[in-house]
Amino acid sequence: KMNTTSFPKNFLWGAGASAFQAEGAYNEDGKGLTSADLHSFLKSDIQADTKIAVDFYHKYEEDIRLMKELGLNSFRFSISWARIFPNGNDSNANELGVAFYDKVIDLLVKYNIEPIVTLYHFDIPQNLVEVYNGWASRKCIDDYERYVHYCFKRYGDRVKYWITVNEQRVIAESKSLVGFKEKEGCSWEAIRHQMNHHLYLANARAIKLCHKILPDVKIGTAVSYLTTYPATSKPEDVFAAKELEDIWSFATMDVYYYGDYPDYYKAYMKEQEISIQIEESDYETLRNAKPDFIGVNWYQTATIEYNKFRVKEEKKDQIEPTTMGLGGRVKIVKNPNLTYTKWGWPIDPKGFRLALRKVYERYHLPIIVTENGLGAADSLTKDNKIHDEYRIDFLKHHLLSIKKAIEDGVVVIAYSYWSFIDILSSSNGMNKRYGFVYVDRDEFNIKDLKRIKKDSYYCYQNIIKDNGSNL
Ligand code: BG6
Repeated sequence: KMNTTSFPKNFLWGAGASAFQAEGAYNEDGKGLTSADLHSFLKSDIQADTKIAVDFYHKYEEDIRLMKELGLNSFRFSISWARIFPNGNDSNANELGVAFYDKVIDLLVKYNIEPIVTLYHFDIPQNLVEVYNGWASRKCIDDYERYVHYCFKRYGDRVKYWITVNEQRVIAESKSLVGFKEKEGCSWEAIRHQMNHHLYLANARAIKLCHKILPDVKIGTAVSYLTTYPATSKPEDVFAAKELEDIWSFATMDVYYYGDYPDYYKAYMKEQEISIQIEESDYETLRNAKPDFIGVNWYQTATIEYNKFRVKEEKKDQIEPTTMGLGGRVKIVKNPNLTYTKWGWPIDPKGFRLALRKVYERYHLPIIVTENGLGAADSLTKDNKIHDEYRIDFLKHHLLSIKKAIEDGVVVIAYSYWSFIDILSSSNGMNKRYGFVYVDRDEFNIKDLKRIKKDSYYCYQNIIKDNGSNL
């Protein structure tokens, strides 16, 4: 193979993790409880007993050394709001929590690993859920802004890349992630779109503030982008695929970018009788905050069929699990051209190139691949090895797609594989592993949490060493 590379010299080769999935220490050093703590405790017996995830809170030095040895020049992680402000809105920051991230950031900087910091990754302080139902209230926007302001001031001298919110649409789809409490006169269906609106405002306020106080840093959001294919060339399938992609993924990016709901989304809201309260000044807030990049969490494509059985209002409970939103008129079907993981996620590196092209053509903003990775049930051999050739294959092919997209003219500045080390999968606990580093624990036994390098660790190390020229 020719030894050429299209990756820019300063390309950020990274990997990521989030606070609730990696840190553990859920109530240590003054940290408050979060919606994500409760959400993940619900998922796994052992998490309920020990609440330690993979103990990054105590093992960060070892883990960051492993990053250095691998050759990462960036690491995406999230700050837990409730470590800084345990109740979400305390008058003083919790110094011990603040100091933890100082130590993490300092060590990364010492090793020349660029920190890419997410400010909110699924973990709203539970107290805010108790007092005003979290994002249902506009007060949450103010409290979030105070929290991010604190982070910008405290860490902004060392952190040059910020992500305001991770996967806003996913948050607003999941009661337990967002920490919603059913209350009299406040139903989930009615409120989740309002929460989504408040998240847009929170994002915009954070971007504006950051640009004001830290003019040299870059800030954006991480969006879960589900790229769609029509199941056939039937026009109704082609349209259904476009509709789902627009409503699920592009609408969010469009609001971030244009500062208003796109027309197709307004039409959709009207059709679905979704009403949200928008104050006049909201538009100004939204328009006055332009992201510096688009963060894309990319895992898979979805193949879409128009669902003839249009679900009527009174039959809402009959929507099959494979039909999603849009009044049940679209349906995800199996793509016979792709292979699937144990959890039914298609593996589609070619689709990734398409995805990058589409995002770039739409916004012409640099792209940070904030997440992309393979969840698998890795197994440890008797001699303590993990032969994850399937992950190596996944990694190489997805990186090749980035390389091709760059050759197509797409500006990709960073790749943050998900995840650096095994962490709690947000949907499947410890059964589903993503990391380059194995953590020796399982769902029911904490064991010694020993870190073991998988074969993919060495593969990524080689790729980074020559800046992707031997892919
Ligand atoms: C993304 C989240 O949605 O997908 C991550 O930002 C998550 O937190 C990842 O881990 C993979 O999903 P899962 O459910 O397999 O952990």
